[in-house]
Amino acid sequence: MDAATLSQTPLRILHLEDNPTDHELVKIALQRDGFSATLTWVDTFDALARQLGAVRFDAVLADYRLPDCSALDAMRLARSCDPTTPFIIVSGAVGETAAIQLLHEGANDYVLKDGLHRLRPALQRAIEAHQNLVAKQQADLRLQESQQRIAELARHLQTSIETERTTIAREIHDEIGSVLTALKFDLSWIGRHTTDERISSRAASALETIDQAIQSTQRIMVNLRPAVLDQGLVHAIEWLARGFEKRTGIKTVFHTTHQQIKLPDEVQQVAYRTAQEALTNVSKHAGATEVSVYMTPDTGVLSLEISDNGKGLGDEDLAKPKSFGIRGLHERARTVGGWVDVSTNQQGTAVILSVPLTDPGLYADTSPAGGTP
Ligand SMILES: Nc1ncnc2c1ncn2[C@@H]1O[C@H](COP(=O)(O)OP(=O)(O)O)[C@@H](O)[C@H]1O
Ligand SMILES: [Mg+2]
Repeated sequence: MDAATLSQTPLRILHLEDNPTDHELVKIALQRDGFSATLTWVDTFDALARQLGAVRFDAVLADYRLPDCSALDAMRLARSCDPTTPFIIVSGAVGETAAIQLLHEGANDYVLKDGLHRLRPALQRAIEAHQNLVAKQQADLRLQESQQRIAELARHLQTSIETERTTIAREIHDEIGSVLTALKFDLSWIGRHTTDERISSRAASALETIDQAIQSTQRIMVNLRPAVLDQGLVHAIEWLARGFEKRTGIKTVFHTTHQQIKLPDEVQQVAYRTAQEALTNVSKHAGATEVSVYMTPDTGVLSLEISDNGKGLGDEDLAKPKSFGIRGLHERARTVGGWVDVSTNQQGTAVILSVPLTDPGLYADTSPAGGTP
């Protein structure tokens, strides 16, 4: 806000001063340049308290010495009503030590009664700083609220996606799975009951196609909702690591400090999807020859680390506008109160998921751990 804008705004200023003449001088000093302000005059601490309790002022001016209080008492009272209210001492000479103490305690400025020409710029600076601070606090609050809403939305989306995946997997199993099994049964029957060579060979080839279709539906079902998660996270991640090694030929070492880690469903899903995305990234981007997957619930935090010995990544990789994998991992982790760190150098990349466990004693089963080379 510039000087012109400030002078057009009708400001509410409270003036604590026991000398009526000095109050008039302050009033004149403020009115001199068309400064638009309502000046409320109080001459005691009680009156100051009453005004501060009833009205929100844009600034408080106070004399240094008053019959029933000091400027410091007045400032503390004003700040207890609004911790950032601009507060300016308007006084005769008080000595350097006292002035420094007042500024140190948080007064915005100190204006001498025989230098009242300084009052307006001092007020202007203090009010502008206060208004900027309030605007920033409001913007911070709005940002916080919006981040909260985004986090809630992400959580909701995550749950909806997993529920939907489970439903689709069940439907594929119940609808398509049973139809394929029935078809397989009928084709085998035809094959067995025909003497026509051509029909039996067609039936055999159709059976092969159906087997492929059954395998495909099973693969799709596993991707949609890994049933292996029902056996616990350790098994699921181990299974994922083994499958990854088999499919890609990249040596994958799995290590866990606990054989069983009992976790809430949503944490298991977040951990599983994190490992899945990190491993997919290794096969797609890293050019690695070795991956290590390490999992532990020690120190009350579930930690899952997927590290490779590939080429590493840069900030520009993470900023790719159309890449949502790692961004999605951050969002997913937040839905269960966790976070994801990506650390990288020329020796490779590590994706680390951390999720604080509310009751580590409950989750961690201390049965002997094993690793899967
Ligand atoms: N393990 C990795 N090694 C090297 N580069 C990686 C690795 N993981 C991710 N990246 C880089 O980071 C980018 C962003 O990854 P991601 O957010 O998963 O999106 P996407 O896989 O769809 O490209 C990738 O395009 C790739 O350039
Ligand atoms: Mg990816």
